[in-house]
Amino acid sequence: MVDMDTLVSLCKRRGFIFQSSEIYGGFGSAWDYGPLGVELKRNVKSDWWRDLVQNREDIVGLDASILMSPQVWIASGHVEKFSDPLVDCKSCQRRFKADQVGDRCPECDGELTEARQFNTMFKTFVGPVEDEASVAYLRPETAQGIFVNFLNVQSATRRKLPFGIAQIGKAFRNEITPGNFTFRTREFEQMEIEYFVKPGTDEEWFDYWINERLEWYKRYGIREENLRLREHGPEELSHYSKATYDIEYNFPFGWSELEGIANRTDFDLRQHAEFSGKDMTYFHEETGEHIYPYVIEPSGGIDRAALAFLVDAYHEEEVKGRKRVLLRLHRDLAPVKVAVLPLLRNRPEVVALAKEIARDLRPHFVVIYDDTASIGRLYRRQDEIGTPYCVTVDVQSLEDRAVTVRDRDSMEQLRPSISQLKGFLLEKLRVC
Ligand code: GAP
Repeated sequence: MVDMDTLVSLCKRRGFIFQSSEIYGGFGSAWDYGPLGVELKRNVKSDWWRDLVQNREDIVGLDASILMSPQVWIASGHVEKFSDPLVDCKSCQRRFKADQVGDRCPECDGELTEARQFNTMFKTFVGPVEDEASVAYLRPETAQGIFVNFLNVQSATRRKLPFGIAQIGKAFRNEITPGNFTFRTREFEQMEIEYFVKPGTDEEWFDYWINERLEWYKRYGIREENLRLREHGPEELSHYSKATYDIEYNFPFGWSELEGIANRTDFDLRQHAEFSGKDMTYFHEETGEHIYPYVIEPSGGIDRAALAFLVDAYHEEEVKGRKRVLLRLHRDLAPVKVAVLPLLRNRPEVVALAKEIARDLRPHFVVIYDDTASIGRLYRRQDEIGTPYCVTVDVQSLEDRAVTVRDRDSMEQLRPSISQLKGFLLEKLRVC
């Protein structure tokens, strides 16, 4: 398995991920996605959206605002309970999560203070006055935007139970121990579904969603042996959850959470009904009852998913005595689908034909044209960023109007005609 230093260096060198504010020495735990990283993340999000919203009858989408009434976070329990117990070292003043240290400071062996709760929501002020009345929070989860819009969505779409509301968006947490590259950051993106079900059917749906989400990661290339499920113990469960399973991935720094699937019961809808004074129940036409649906929540992190896809795709092999590094990214996830490369960059007719081919393919795929090195180097560059197909234009192409298409994984080379190239690649790169 790739080590983190190698992966971080590849991500920077090739333009996947850069340290935030690097020219100022970096800004702790924040990362910027470069030209390839942004494509990879967009692919993760669009595959998730296509599979879970567009391809299903029972889930609709939402894009709620990040800033919400502070009442939302009081009702949801986050103001009171979204906190970590912290201790300070009396000698070196360093701060640690209480459950990650023993009796003494791990840095200088100094005495530690009693643990106290530290709320991990970012606070800000709305409007020109910085007082208690204008406090607002950056959302620590996208979920609450869904709960407070439950009735709006249900009445606008006339959905019947069971149905889900999906959302992708940024979330913020003032993490005490961020780290491991993009694994734990203070600003990150979530992809969440709140799936509303009849009480009594929640356990069955809980099992269904655990399985669905595991299969989804496998479908996009994560190897089965690198995924496992872990049930939360009673002391670990969030304040809103009756049961939670984490899908864990075998990262280079150890097994860690990729996505959580929680049975949130009717906790959130009841809390919002109580705090807002609004009726948040669902009217069950068949029985004539007003009920609070139960909620199953598959909640994943896009940054973590992208990191797991990169780790799992990284591969080194020896070809003709030389090391070949490649990202075996699933074709849907690969940031660039096709690279068009002229074999001879000093032959203007070859270059012109290659550029024309790239231009014709661009409306259909993310395409790179590159003529800045020898063909061997150009192939290595594309392997390293996971481009599934390289199209090479040579002198013979001028005569036979055909090109060489090289497959990233098998390195097999085929020679379709230029007129058939688009159809050939569309077939190879068809959506999952
Ligand atoms: N609404 C439920 C919820 O937010 P969570 O387990 O706290 O549950 C869900 O977060 C997912 O969000 C995690 O599985 C992880 O993928 C991602 N996530 C949470 N905190 C993160 C952080 N600090 N940095 C990056 N991703 C994070």
